Formats: sequence, structure tokens, C-alpha cells
Amino acid sequence: MSGPTNNLASDRTETAKTETPKRVLLVGAQGQVGQELVQTLSRLPNLGTVVAVGRKELDLTDLDAIAQQVAQVQPSLIINAAAYTAVDKAESEPDLAHCINAEAPKALAQSAVKCGAALVHISTDYVFPGTEGSPRTETDPTGPLSVYGKTKLAGEEAIRATLDQHIILRTAWVYGSQGKGNFLKTMLRLGKDRSTISVVADQVGSPTWAQDISETIGQLSLRLLNEATSDSASDSASDSASDSASDSANDSAGDVAGTYHFTNSGVASWYDFALAIFEEAQALGIPLKIQTVNPITTADYPTPAARPAYSVLSGQKIARTLGHSAPYWRQSLRTMLVEFAQAERAPAAR
Ligand SMILES: NC(=O)c1ccc[n+]([C@@H]2O[C@H](COP(=O)([O-])OP(=O)(O)OC[C@H]3O[C@@H](n4cnc5c(N)ncnc54)[C@H](OP(=O)(O)O)[C@@H]3O)[C@@H](O)[C@H]2O)c1
Repeated sequence: MSGPTNNLASDRTETAKTETPKRVLLVGAQGQVGQELVQTLSRLPNLGTVVAVGRKELDLTDLDAIAQQVAQVQPSLIINAAAYTAVDKAESEPDLAHCINAEAPKALAQSAVKCGAALVHISTDYVFPGTEGSPRTETDPTGPLSVYGKTKLAGEEAIRATLDQHIILRTAWVYGSQGKGNFLKTMLRLGKDRSTISVVADQVGSPTWAQDISETIGQLSLRLLNEATSDSASDSASDSASDSASDSANDSAGDVAGTYHFTNSGVASWYDFALAIFEEAQALGIPLKIQTVNPITTADYPTPAARPAYSVLSGQKIARTLGHSAPYWRQSLRTMLVEFAQAERAPAAR
């Protein structure tokens, strides 16, 4: 008697589980990566319905509001694209930077545990000191030079200590057409106004298009969500969460959760990047006044926050995981500028 009844009940439960609509809570939807994510996630219907919130809907300095928002949305996945990103200003606002970059990610992770969600979080190359002359891997020792880097590292550590089902994606030198500002937009503005500018040539890294980051997050999110759904028993494994040593274990277990480095491939200085922006923009007919770009040293251009000199992240782990390498930085720059130039011309064409 009881056998068939139990089977029916468990069948119904199984059916109900698979039919529960999935929701993704995207936090920081108005940032340069956040806006790209809104586009990318809309092209990935398998991820579920996206609830995208910016600062107006969810202020990350209000930790109670974070818990309430997550409890209300009941997401399967949270993607955090928000951060305090004003690297120099952070030196004089360490508490605010710590709240947004460390306390808020911790609160997101705690809320994720409560509703059985996975969390994707973005971090930075600035967790490294940049004193080693070879690409940094995910397990290399950190050592941030700035308040921004320290608060971002604290956010990473809080997430690792709180839930297993996370991805921390460290990226660097981000530019794109969205958001308030970035190096590329600054160069285009200066290049339109001035004939000569000076750019730092002794800091190197990998310029990275925000759209390539969002595509990568989309791919990793699908994998993470699939694993989380098929392994719900590990939802609240906070007690077994540890430090980045768990990443190598995750690697061998074939588990996608863990820490990744993702940038466009190749290496450039800010000076190289500026020259490339101007060359590509001129080739596309974007009008520029710029004639001369002078290479200068970091010492010639002092800033409140110290920055890593050699800030290259190894993309080997993510290439193994996704089965392909990141696009070369100059190729992505060209693609981005083609779209940018088309968008600039569009209003005139109407
Ligand atoms: N930009 C880079 O070069 C770079 C390099 C490495 C890593 N990253 C990381 O990449 C991620 C995305 O950065 P991004 O380049 O897209 O930066 P972004 O354009 O500055 O976006 C950050 C977003 O966070 C929001 N935010 C800030 N404080 C908030 C608060 N209290 N409550 C809610 N939202 C808040 C900002 O809103 P407002 O616009 O209203 O301030 C903004 O929309 C971040 O985790 C960043 O640390 C960036």
C-alpha cells in the first residue's frame, strides 16, 4: 500500500522541482559590466528570469535590504556586478569601500545560503601586488597595494568562507561602451580635445572588454546553475568552505565552482592601450585631434592609490574550463570600437 503512494508523492515532488521557474538576481545592473550582463543574460533563457537591480532598487550599504531583496526574489543564482570601483577615492573612504566590496558580498553570500542560491562575484587583479613578472594564477599569493584591492580581497574571502557554490571571477583593466567612465572613454574624450597627452608606460596588464566578461560569466553561470540544481545537497556547505586551496580540489572534481582569472589575452601598457585606441578609432573615422602620445612613468603621474606594475592574470584555468582561450585584447578593442562608432553615427543617420 505505502510503496506506490510514496512513489507517486516523490514523482510529484520531482516534477514540481524541475518545473519551478528559475530566477537570477543581477546586482549592480547599471555598471559597465552590469549593463553588458543584462544583454548577455537575456540571450540565455535557460538561466531563468533575470531580476536586474541597480543602486536605486538595492543600495548595498543597507545590509538588511540585501537580505530582504534576496528573500523576496528567491533566486537560484545571484550575480554581483556592483562594487565601489573608485580606486583613488577609496584611499580616503576605506569604510564605505569595505562596506560595498566586503560586507555586501558577505551578506549576498549569506542570503544565497538561506535560499539555496549560487553566487557569481567579480573581483580584480588589484588583489595582487604586481611585483612578480609572470602571469598570476588563481592560487598565487595575494597582497593588495590599495584600499580598493584590500576590500575586494576581503569580499572574496568572505564569500569563500560562506558558501561553496560560488564563482569569483577576477578580471582587470575593464572598458566598454556602457557605464559612467573608463580608460577608453577618457582617451577618446582627451583625443578629441587635445593634440598631445602623456600616458603611463610602466604599468602593464590586459585590457578587457566588458562584453567578453559578461559572455564568460554567462557561460560559467549556466554551468554553476546546472551543477547546483543537480547537487542541491551541497547548498549549505558553508562549514566545508575554505580558502583558495579548495579551487584545486574543485578542478580535479570537475566542479565549476571556485576562483577564476579572466581577461582578454595579451599584454599591453596603458601607453600601448592608448595608442591602440587612437589607431583603431582613426581607422574607423572617429574624428580625433590627437597627434602625440608621450610615454611617462608611474612616478611622473602620482595617484593616491598605488597600482600593481605587472598586472597580468593567467587565463589557463578558465581556458581549460570553457574549452577556449579569451579573445586577443586588440581584436576585442576593434570589435568594441566598430560597435561604438556605429552607435555614434546612428542618431545622425536618422
Ligand atoms: N573597471 C575596472 O577596470 C575593473 C577592473 C577589475 C575588476 N573590476 C570589477 O568588475 C566589477 C564591475 O565593475 P565595473 O567596471 O562594471 O564598475 P562600475 O561601472 O563602476 O560599476 C559598479 C556598479 O556598482 C554600483 N554601486 C556602487 N556602490 C553601490 C551601492 N552602494 N549600492 C548599489 N550599487 C552600487 C555602481 O552604481 P553607481 O553607478 O550608482 O555608482 C555601479 O553601477 C566590479 O566588481 C569591479 O571591482 C573592474
